[in-house]
Formats: sequence, structure tokens, C-alpha cells
Amino acid sequence: MKSLKTDLNGLYPPSDAVQQSAHIASLDQYLKMYKASIEDPIQFWEKLSKPFFWKQQPTGPFLRYNFDLKKGNIFTKWMEGATTNVCYNLVDKHVEEGNGHRMAYYWEGNDPTEQKQITYQGLLEAICKCANVLKTLGIQKGNRVAIYMPTTIEAIIAMLSCARIGAIHVVIFAGFSAEALAERMIAANAKLLVTADGTFRGTKFIPLKSIATQALKQCKAAGHLINHCVVFNRLQTSKLNKDVPDIPWDDSIDLAWETVMASASDLCEVEWVDAEHPLFILYTSGSTGKPKGVLHTSGGYLLYAATVFKYAFDYHEEDLFFCSGDLGWITGHTFNVYGALACKSSTVIFDGIPTYPDGGRFWELIDRYQVTTFYTAPTAIRTLMQLDRSYVTKYSRASLRLLGSVGEPIDPATWHWFYEVVGEKRCPIIDTFWQTETGGPIICPLPGSTPLKPGSATLPFFGIVPAIVDADGVEMIGEGEGYLVIKNPWPGIARTLDGNHQRFESTYFEPYNGYYYTGDAAKRDADGYFWIIGRRDDMLNVSGHLLSTAEIESALMQHPAVAEAAAVSAAHAIKGESIHCFIVLKHRWKYDGIIEDAIKAIVRNKIGAFAVPELIHPVPALPKVASGKIMRRLLKKVVQQDADLGDTSTLVDQTIIEQLLALTTKKG
Ligand code: PRX
Repeated sequence: MKSLKTDLNGLYPPSDAVQQSAHIASLDQYLKMYKASIEDPIQFWEKLSKPFFWKQQPTGPFLRYNFDLKKGNIFTKWMEGATTNVCYNLVDKHVEEGNGHRMAYYWEGNDPTEQKQITYQGLLEAICKCANVLKTLGIQKGNRVAIYMPTTIEAIIAMLSCARIGAIHVVIFAGFSAEALAERMIAANAKLLVTADGTFRGTKFIPLKSIATQALKQCKAAGHLINHCVVFNRLQTSKLNKDVPDIPWDDSIDLAWETVMASASDLCEVEWVDAEHPLFILYTSGSTGKPKGVLHTSGGYLLYAATVFKYAFDYHEEDLFFCSGDLGWITGHTFNVYGALACKSSTVIFDGIPTYPDGGRFWELIDRYQVTTFYTAPTAIRTLMQLDRSYVTKYSRASLRLLGSVGEPIDPATWHWFYEVVGEKRCPIIDTFWQTETGGPIICPLPGSTPLKPGSATLPFFGIVPAIVDADGVEMIGEGEGYLVIKNPWPGIARTLDGNHQRFESTYFEPYNGYYYTGDAAKRDADGYFWIIGRRDDMLNVSGHLLSTAEIESALMQHPAVAEAAAVSAAHAIKGESIHCFIVLKHRWKYDGIIEDAIKAIVRNKIGAFAVPELIHPVPALPKVASGKIMRRLLKKVVQQDADLGDTSTLVDQTIIEQLLALTTKKG
């Protein structure tokens, strides 16, 4: 294979080898197709929707929407009147077309000896069984089912069995604490929980069932009864399972996955649902601290997930796709499940960490399975690039064709390591910018057509019209830096926040009326390339996990010693951002290691271990404006030890920042 050619402007054009087989094989072809997608989105998406099975075709307009609050409620509806079933399109259809023998998933556990695989036929049978189990347990169309599981084939079976019967899955990331799980189950009005006994992250045991049991108790105490908890025995294959604590079990609620599945029929009719029927809810952090239940619907999400999977990864049937993302996040939903299966992909899923048993795990896995397309997060890459290069080079990466990145900006140094060391200058890096709410990438290169610039997510995906606006909402033309908005609807856009449409409107559409606001700042260069700068709302992005400052602050405030608290992010060499907290103690309390540990434990219990602060700074006061609002912008300066404070005229106590800078220097 020929290397990519680097031209003098630092662009990395697609190599001949990649272009030869690419769906979109030149920049011109992309530009033409992009133009068509925005000039006539209906015709564009209608054509792409044809290969899917629609029990009934749309009866009204293919697209209706309103992004303008002055004209009334915000809404987006694609293919109204059409009926379909997403599970049918993902699995049954392929089996009926003679592809039942094709491998759907290779599963690899934390322990390298833990392996499983399942064909499309096997998946169909398991989904039918699970759907029948759900029905027996009283789940009907429209009911919500919580799934708190590690990345396993069984979690996917649970998700798709919901889709099969028109129930709505609510996957809750298996790193969340009992309180966070309970909060989400109550908010979603979940009727049933599917979980696992536990899993391992390296040698660390994650007691999922104990956490789930606590969460169910908390739900009950809050008056929300969940009658059934189906528990998958994940630990059975683990070599580390010898010393795990007893798994709590309550016969009146708990049912073993293996038992209920064994007696269920493997035939289950699909439920035909409207294109706009909800498919799933996925919680993401919100700036008030209360998680937002992002709701995606069936037809549009299916169409968008399949389309981005096909084009962003230039997917071909002989590919083997490996996305290291957890099923508990949107990346896992769109790429490990919906996009992958819609395209009939064979996919590797991984319930482990990149550094266990050693830092060669990803590369060993890629070599063993002969992965062609590897998609991961900058945090993981940064962790691995600290290690000796031999962890990578002792395995062959010859099977790799494409590399992808998601979740955070990928800095040029990380980009180059990924490109040069992992991809041997052969594989384009597909830096995909997107969000839980967008359903799939909205800005990303296409392998065969987009010249790459390290650190830039490059150009908009088909059907997406991004714009940069200034603080007043005025659109900037050409080069510029400001707030990233999207001007038009696309099939994968979230339709609402579950139970709170008003919050949906005020979060995404009110800031810049007429546009969907991403919450991110971005720069557009002279070539029209987008460079994502990062969140401009009260959100932190730690190792690709979005957290809100309010969520962390409300946890800090639970400690009896804490009078006031503020959380901000600081640049972190591996995690991208880390959390720094400033706390003001109540009178007579003295900060010490015991308080620090107790505060960290509260955060761990309320949110999860991934939200525990990197550093806690006890300070005499917080910088505030007259109305009492904390100036987090200045706290960020303190964390960065940057004395160039900008305009501080609204600060009530002008001396406080000097004091904080001095205090944190001492600490450093
Ligand atoms: O700030 C952006 C960052 O992650 C946010 C969305 O987080 P979440 O909804 O959890 O979804 C993450 C996985 C799709 C965005 O607002 N982000 C995501 N991808 C990128 C990114 N920032 C820069 N470059 C990216 N490729």
C-alpha cells in the first residue's frame, strides 16, 4: 500500500489505496453530494431511506420541522406516517436475505481468555427470546426498560429486544453510582432493570448487581417501584471471579438471565411502529445538574446511524469494525449497535480497558481479529502513547485501513502518534465531532475524499449546515471563531428531552434562535475546515465523559463542612480535562485528609468514580459578581496559574483572585 502524500500545506490527502475502493472517492464527489444533500434534503434522505424496510411508506411530508421559537414549538419529524421496526432492519432483514451465518459480534472480555461470538441468526434468536421474556414480565410498547450492563452481547440483545417490541431502552453507563442509576431510572419511569452480576476493569471489580440493588431500594424509597431485575451472569467467564464478594439476590425481584432466556421461545413477531416512535433515551449531563434524557426516534435515527457508519468509516462488507466505546454512551449506541448492524457489519466489542493485562491490549486484539477499522477516544490514545512504543510495534497492524477518534478534540501530537505509530502513515484518521443529541457525527472527514488536517474534524457531514455565530447570534462568514450551531434538521437529531420539551427548546434553540446550538465553540479556517475548541457552557469533558459543574458542585455541597463549592476543568495530559474543585468551608471546620477523602467519596457515590475531582482547593472565598454568580472563568485562570485575568471589573472582591493564585501556587 502506498503512503498518504503530505503536501506543503500540511494537508494529508487520501491515499490512492483508500480512494480506490472508497464510496466517495474525491473531494469533488463529496462536494457534489454535500451540495445535493443541503439543497434538497428530502430527495437526498428519501433516496438513502429506500434500502430499509418500511411496513408503510410515509403518508405525509418526508420532513416537517420548526427551529424558530417565534413561530411556535420546536420540532423535527421525518417520514411521518411511515411504519417500521428498527430491530427488523438490523437483524431479521439480513437473515431473510441469506446472511444469517454472517458474524454479527465478536465479544472480548476484560480477561483475554473471555471470548464469545454470535451470528446474525444467533442474534435474532436471542433477541426474540429476550423480547418474549420482556413481554412475559409485562413490558409493552412504549414502556421504558433500564439497562445497566457492561459492554456485552447480552446488553445489545436487551437493547434490540426493546426495539423489537416497541419498548424504549434507557442504557445507563455501568460506571454510574447507585444514586445516579436510581435518579435516571426514576426520571425515565423505568418499569424493569436488566443488569449483570458484575464486571472487571483490569483487576478492579465493579459490583454492578450490588449497585443495582441499592439503586432499586432508592427507587422504592422514592415511591418508584421496579418489580423485576433480570441479572446476566457476566462473571462466569472471568478468571478473576474467585474473590468477588457475594452477589446480593432477592427472589422476589431478581431473575437470572440464563434461566428466563432458556425457557423463552425464539420466535417473536416484531411490533411495527411509527417512524417517529421513540427508540431510546440516553442521559447526558445538563448544566443545571439534572441529567437530560435525550430522546431519539426510530426511522430518522436508523437512517442517520446507518448513513454515517457507511460513509464516515467507508464501510465495506469485508471490513471488521472495532469501536472501543462503551455501550452506555451514544458512541456505543450508534456505532456498536445501530449503525453497525444496519450496515450488516461484523463488529468487535470489548468489555475491558486498553492497559490490561498490559498496554498492548488494543493492538493485540486488532492483530488477532484482523480489525480493519478502529475507532477510539483521544484519552485512550494519550494513555497508550505514554507507554513504550514496543507495545504497539510488537503486533502487526497490517489489517488496519482506517482509524477514528471521538469524544474530545484530538490534539495534533496525539493525532500524529495515532497516525504514524499505530497506522504506519497508511490509515486516515477520521476525527468525528458529534454529541448524544446529534445521533451521529455531524462534522467529520470521509476517508476517500477529505484531505486531513491534524486536530481538525474537517467538513460537515451530508445534510448538515453548520455555522459559527458570535455572542449576539450573528453568523460569521468565512474564517472565524465563535459558537458552533447547526442551521437545519437532519434525521438523527434528538427530538426532545424526555419529559421536558421546554428544557430541550431552551438548551438547544433559545441561545441562538433558529439554530441548534451545540454548546461548543469552534473555529473555521480559510479552507472551511472546522476546529472544535470545546464546551462553552458549564460542562466538563473528562476522558470523553461529559459532566456538568452543577452536578459536581451539588455533590460537594453534601458534605457538612462545605459552605460553597465551584468546579472547573483544567487541561490534563491524558484525560483531556480534569476536575478542580474550590470549596469554602463552614466556620470552625478545618480542611484535612479526612474531609478530602469524605468529599471524594460523596462524588463517587453520587455520580461515579469517573467524576472524582483531581484536586480540591480549600479557599477563603470564591470570586463572585454582585448578583452572587461565581466567576468560573477566573477560577480556570487560577487553575492554569494564569495571572492575565482579563476584565475583572464586575468582581466584588478584587483581591480574591490574587489570594487564590497564591494559595494554589503553594499547593502546586
Ligand atoms: O464538546 C464536544 C465533545 O463531546 C461533546 C459531546 O459529548 P457527548 O454527548 O457525551 O458525546 C460524545 C460522543 C459523541 C461535544 O459537545 N466532542 C465530541 N466529539 C468531539 C468532541 N470535541 C472535539 N472533537 C470531537 N471529535
